Amino acid sequence: MHNRLYNKKVLITAGPTKEAIDPVRYISNHSSGKMGYAIAEKFLESGAQVFLVSGPVKISLHHPKLKIIKVNSASEMYLACCHYFEEVDIAVFAAAVADYRPEKIEERRSKKDETHFTIKMKRNIDIAYEFGQIKTHKQIAVGFALETHDELKHAIGKLSEKNFDMVVLNSVNDQGAIFGHDSNKITIVKDDFSKKEFPLKGKSEVARDIVNEVEATIVMHEKYQLEESVLDYETMYR
Ligand code: PMT
Repeated sequence: MHNRLYNKKVLITAGPTKEAIDPVRYISNHSSGKMGYAIAEKFLESGAQVFLVSGPVKISLHHPKLKIIKVNSASEMYLACCHYFEEVDIAVFAAAVADYRPEKIEERRSKKDETHFTIKMKRNIDIAYEFGQIKTHKQIAVGFALETHDELKHAIGKLSEKNFDMVVLNSVNDQGAIFGHDSNKITIVKDDFSKKEFPLKGKSEVARDIVNEVEATIVMHEKYQLEESVLDYETMYR
């Protein structure tokens, strides 16, 4: 197959976000960034240009066609992504973005004299949803879903809610998969509701499967666009 990814512009989010409570503490999650970085590597191997917006992780990656934008919070991740929304051909949302952040960041570390303390949380902006709102039919959006129950139902819900072309479902119930591990077990659900299950594999191989599915989606889009222009031509000269 002719390489459809050469020089394509790809935005990838990876890793966790850190939401500050005060100058010394934060709320975060266990994402290591391994999945997102592995996807970036596979796109780079295919000749794509990659903008990797990364939460705080311990991985380093260098490539002449790679730009890494390091962020901490969900708001910073959103602002960094916005910059690329219009120009990219493909966006892959592999980050584990915190859904909420403390409404107020305390200026000083809070005292320990209370037995309980409450943090009022505020909803973070949904980066993938915002991209879905302005996405053109030429752009491809890939989302991830991390579910504890009713996995497939939630994955299908996210497809339409966030205007994804495909959702990579990883279940926290799968042994040896997800956070921090070097392996993952995924199911890819596409916007035509087709479903492909993959066995447990190393994250590098999983990334290859995801990138192959993106390329297959580009081929399908090209086919539809060609059929549409043939139809237009026939209508015009009928
Ligand atoms: O980093 P690793 O240790 O390798 O682990 C990889 C992973 C498990 C983090 C990754 O494979 C993964 O599943 N990432 C998404 C997890 C998640 O936050 O899922 P969600 O169901 O909350 O979000 C759905 C989609 O919306 C995701 O594509 C997410 O990136 C995106 N999102 C969510 C919230 C938000 N505020 N902005 C977003 O863009």
